[in-house]
Amino acid sequence: MPHPRKAPVIVIDGPAGAGKSTVAREVARRLGLPFLDTGAIYRAITLLMLRENVPPLDSPELRSRLAGFSVSFSGTRVLAGGEDVTEGIRTQEIDRSVSAYSALPVVRESLLGIQRRQAAGGLVAEGRDMGTVVFPDADLKIFLTASAEERARRRCEERAARGEGSEYGEILKQVNARDEIDSNREAAPLKAARDAILLDTTGMPLESVVGEIMGHAGRLAWNGGQ
Ligand code: DC
Repeated sequence: MPHPRKAPVIVIDGPAGAGKSTVAREVARRLGLPFLDTGAIYRAITLLMLRENVPPLDSPELRSRLAGFSVSFSGTRVLAGGEDVTEGIRTQEIDRSVSAYSALPVVRESLLGIQRRQAAGGLVAEGRDMGTVVFPDADLKIFLTASAEERARRRCEERAARGEGSEYGEILKQVNARDEIDSNREAAPLKAARDAILLDTTGMPLESVVGEIMGHAGRLAWNGGQ
């Protein structure tokens, strides 16, 4: 019999549009674990800074906004300082600016505690540096990728589902630009942890991706909270 032990920390990293959110949310639901979308936190900070005209530079203004920043999740809603920003953080303006704020070490450090505190009862977390920096001791690390073309196509579909217009060529350019900055920044760049399982989801249906991760999760010595 597997030994009952504490609920696992499962992390899913990868570039924009690799399907991390949909996959991680579904894996969390099936395992009965909380889900943490860390991109939403970086997006919420970006929204706040853009609104207050604070540029992406380490400055006293930026530091004081960070010190007052709080984020919480209520089901699928994202609250920043109590305000529902769920839709506001998914605009193209945020897409264009989020990498610049995320590249600042002062921003990343201020979020470490916020992210780690969520993991007390186990979780499924998705982002760029979950397996490398935030949860280096995670029980299971997955790195999801897909071709840039497929990722841009998925982004277009997501936008269309929200009733927003999108131009494939423009989205492809943005996806590539964001990956370039996220992968080449000095602080916690987007990269697979050495002990991550790589999964290329190009052409794979959601159910197969989730199934594969559930297979790995099933091998963790955990009693499923029973
Ligand atoms: O997953 P997403 O597209 O919502 O993420 C938005 C941006 O946030 C992404 O381009 C880089 C940044 N990010 C990060 O730097 N580290 C994370 N753990 C998650 C997101």
